[in-house]
Formats: sequence, C-alpha cells, structure tokens
Amino acid sequence: MINGTKALDRSLRWGMVGGGGTSQIGYIHRSAALRDGNFVLQAGAFDIDAVRGRAFGTTLGVAEDRCYADYETMFAAEAARADGIEAVSIATPNNTHFAICRAALNAGLHVVCEKPLCFSAAEADELERLCAEKKKIIGVTYGYAGHQLIHQAREMIAEGLLGEIRIINMQFAHGFHNEAVELQNASTKWRVDPRFVGPSYVLGDLATHPLFIAETMVPKLKVKRLLCSRQSFVKSRAPLEDNAFVMMEYDNGAVGTMWASAVNCGSMHGQKVRVIGEKASLEWWDEQPNQLRYEVQGQPVQILERGMGYLHSRALEEDRIGGGHPEGLFEAWSNLYRRFALAMDATDRDDQTFLRDFWYPDVHAGLMGVRWVEQCVQSADAGAVWVDC
Ligand code: NAI
Repeated sequence: MINGTKALDRSLRWGMVGGGGTSQIGYIHRSAALRDGNFVLQAGAFDIDAVRGRAFGTTLGVAEDRCYADYETMFAAEAARADGIEAVSIATPNNTHFAICRAALNAGLHVVCEKPLCFSAAEADELERLCAEKKKIIGVTYGYAGHQLIHQAREMIAEGLLGEIRIINMQFAHGFHNEAVELQNASTKWRVDPRFVGPSYVLGDLATHPLFIAETMVPKLKVKRLLCSRQSFVKSRAPLEDNAFVMMEYDNGAVGTMWASAVNCGSMHGQKVRVIGEKASLEWWDEQPNQLRYEVQGQPVQILERGMGYLHSRALEEDRIGGGHPEGLFEAWSNLYRRFALAMDATDRDDQTFLRDFWYPDVHAGLMGVRWVEQCVQSADAGAVWVDC
C-alpha cells in the first residue's frame, strides 16, 4: 500500500521540457511526479514561447532563473550547478522527443518521455543504446499501465488461469475528432500534421496504449506478423489515418486485433483489452479502471474490484485507499512515476538484481511501440499486406 512515504530517502531533482500552462498533459506529469515526494520540481523549459514558459514556471514555484528559454540552455545551465537537475520529463509534441531525449541523456540526465518515444525504430534503437552507454533510463508514460488491475491480469495469466492464450482484442477508439476539429484546436492541429506527429496519427497516438497494456498483461507473447488497414475519414488528414484496423499473429499461434479510431462517434475513450485463453477471458476498460472482468467458460461473470484482499499481492502494492474508493488515471500515473524514481535510483547504484525483476515502461517498451507503428504504416501503405515483425 502506498501512503505517501517516499520510495527513496531523498527526492530526485527534476525538470520539465514542455507541459506548459496550455498543454493537455503537463499537469498530470507534475501531479504524478510530485505526489509521493519522489521528485522535486527545480527547473523547466515549459513552453515553446519562452516568456509564457517563464511566467508559468514561476507560478509553479520554480525560481525565475531556472525557468529557461529552451531545453539546450536548461541542460547546459543545470549541468553547471552543484544542485542541478538529475531527471527531466519531456511533454512536447512528438517531433521533438528524439532530439530532446538524446540531449538529456548526453547531459547525464534520467528521462521520462511521452509516447510515442520518437518517429522511427532506428531513432528508438539509438536511444536504447545511449541509455546503456550513459547508464541512464528512459521511462515512457504509458500512463494507463499504472492501473493496478492490469497487474492483477498479468499475474492471473502467468498463473495459467486462462490456459494458453488464443486471442487478444485491443481497441482505443474515441469520437472526439469525427470532424476537422484541428482547424480550431492547437493540441489536435499538430497531431494530424506529419511534420509534428510522424508517420501516423491514431496508431501512434492511441493504439500504442492498449498495445502496451496487452504486452504488460501477456509479456511472453511476441507479434510475429501483422496486417494493417488505415483510413482518413476526414480527408484533409491524409496521409495520416483517423481510423485503423490491425490483425496480428503471435509466436504461440494466438491472434490479435487492434482498432484505433478518433472518429468513433459518441465514444469517450473506448479503450479496452480483452485477453481470451482456452479456459477463460479477462477484460479491462480504461473507463472502469477499478474493475476487471474474469469470465470462466460455463460460470457466471466475476468482477474483480481494485484494492480487495483477494487480489494478487502485486496488484495491491500500489493501492492507495482500499477497495470501494475509486482510483483513477492520476493515481495510475503516480504509480508509474514512483517506479521511474526507483528505477533511476537503482540504475545510479547499478543494482542489477533489483532492476532484473522490476517492471516499468522502459526505453525498450518505447522502442516496441515505435517499431509496431512503423510496421503498421508499412503494411497499410503497401495495400494492407502481411508484414513480418
Ligand atoms: P500540447 O500541444 O497540448 O502541449 C505541448 C506543450 O509543449 C505546450 O506547452 C508547448 O508550448 C510545449 N512545447 C512545444 N514545443 C516545445 C519545445 N521545443 N520546448 C519546450 N516546450 C515546447 O500537447 P499535449 O497534448 O500535451 O501532448 C504532448 C505530448 O504528450 C505528445 O507527445 C502526446 O503524444 C503526449 N500525450 C500523452 C498522453 C498519455 O496518455 N501518455 C496523453 C496526451 C498527450
């Protein structure tokens, strides 16, 4: 159970790039990092607009001289201070992730980066190599993966309660972009422009989330080949897709499907992962994150509730308030940031024994997502053909 006690005997000195006052995702980074005292916000290049970024940073309590105009200045100035930052989070549009991650690692910082990690598998490979060389981590904010019941599913599947896995059904299909809302909304505008978002829209922006949740639940399964079909229902978004279907074959003979969409009218998030084995199925929806459906063939449905004593100990480690009280996305993110702090500390101490069994969305998870998106685009653009993975 988490009760606010620090995971480490100190707080990591932390900075942010992006996540400014008008951003969608900046606040949840700060809320999650600061929640349990494992990080302390000391510096930032919070905004593409330096004046706006400085004004915002000071309202967060960051000293004015540590609210920088850009990330290069921040990394150089902080490296020169005895009390400079040790870790940085990157919450900027996708086109900047690779360069900022690389600069941060070269400046000797641990990194938390938004998904998708970068544009290409070649870039992600380079970041993975750089992490190993610099002995620093990149944590990737697949935020939903911090929900406790995903770890309950992982344990139940590992224990064999579902039997051999046959089918994984994944989706993240909302309806918010059923029209060209990007004409009015700055946060959507860059998401449908390949210069800022890379080779895909919903595959990278949405599908990478349930893909990682499924990888977390069933870590042993590897995608062997896939076939993707993508559409731009709002024509001005072409070549980027606002809807995509992917079929996958796994190395154990299982099959999977992914539906990613921003034009699923009326749907709020529609993020679901259903894992089907030869004996039973598990299903988790992000809009009801405190419940996990466990369906055994021939028996009534069981709804497992977060925080209850019958859950696996790994699903209770990050309980913050007990069963019945709903926890949400902010708690899931806080769980991830706590894990990032532990992984950073263990990496600094070169504690390989700890790291070997310790789960968190790492640079390799980021690489897997980027590679999968690349393969989906390759398949779709060749006319929806099977591509080996
Ligand atoms: P946004 O457009 O709302 O905000 C971007 C922020 O970054 C703004 O404050 C902007 O001024 C700042 N910025 C842009 N370029 C910068 C630079 N070079 N240096 C410093 N600041 C810069 O974008 P949003 O929606 O917050 O997305 C940011 C990232 O977070 C994206 O990679 C997106 O995919 C990811 N995201 C992840 C989510 C998750 O669940 N993990 C959910 C939403 C977004």
